[in-house]
Amino acid sequence: MKIKKAEFVISNTDYRLCPKNNLPEYAFIGRSNVGKSSLINAIVNNKKLAKTSSTPGKTQLINHFIINDQWYLVDLPGYGYAKTSKSQRAIFHEMISNYLLNRSSLIALFVLIDSRHKLQKIDNEFMIFLAENQIPFVIVFTKIDKLGKNIIKKNIENFKKEMLKNWEEIPEVFLSSSESRLGIKEITSYIAKLNVDIKNNN
Ligand code: GTP
Ligand code: MG
Repeated sequence: MKIKKAEFVISNTDYRLCPKNNLPEYAFIGRSNVGKSSLINAIVNNKKLAKTSSTPGKTQLINHFIINDQWYLVDLPGYGYAKTSKSQRAIFHEMISNYLLNRSSLIALFVLIDSRHKLQKIDNEFMIFLAENQIPFVIVFTKIDKLGKNIIKKNIENFKKEMLKNWEEIPEVFLSSSESRLGIKEITSYIAKLNVDIKNNN
């Protein structure tokens, strides 16, 4: 699939104010600073579409971008940023969970994990929440360019092993780098395939 057009639509704190949910939508989530906004920019090939920052806590709203006039990419705030105040974290939590639980046009959620880190409690708990609420998700390991091949392999094997202690199976996994563009084509093709499946089922 070729991305010919990618435009910002609207930012919201409330899922009820998001665009009419008549188009398939794909959202990106994960810990603060994991690379959600950068990954969206890599997919659409525009470094300026979603706002990125080296300081965690940059994305604070539900941001809709419309792609090829046909589907949405959604950039969400990160979770688990220690420096965010408790009350702000509660607001984010509510905003994100309400969006995830109520957005019927959400086809898949991309859960981003920094490939340098072990499975963290907060990510595991978040994925359990998704499974319990039947929110379809896949995992994307980010910042692959920051590691050597052997370490990447070892880290991802460890992550999967750790996950299988609590999970019967592991969802679809992608390896990505917004810098080197590794995995970007695979993620885009995955979305394209889901878009075709949806069209065929309608
Ligand atoms: P919040 O909105 O704050 O939750 O962060 P985010 O998950 O949207 O992260 P963002 O895309 O803003 O990236 C955070 C930092 O990581 C920035 O300095 C990016 O340049 C850097 N970064 C993101 N992806 C990659 C990557 O694939 N490789 C490298 N080397 N750096 C990356
Ligand atoms: Mg962001």
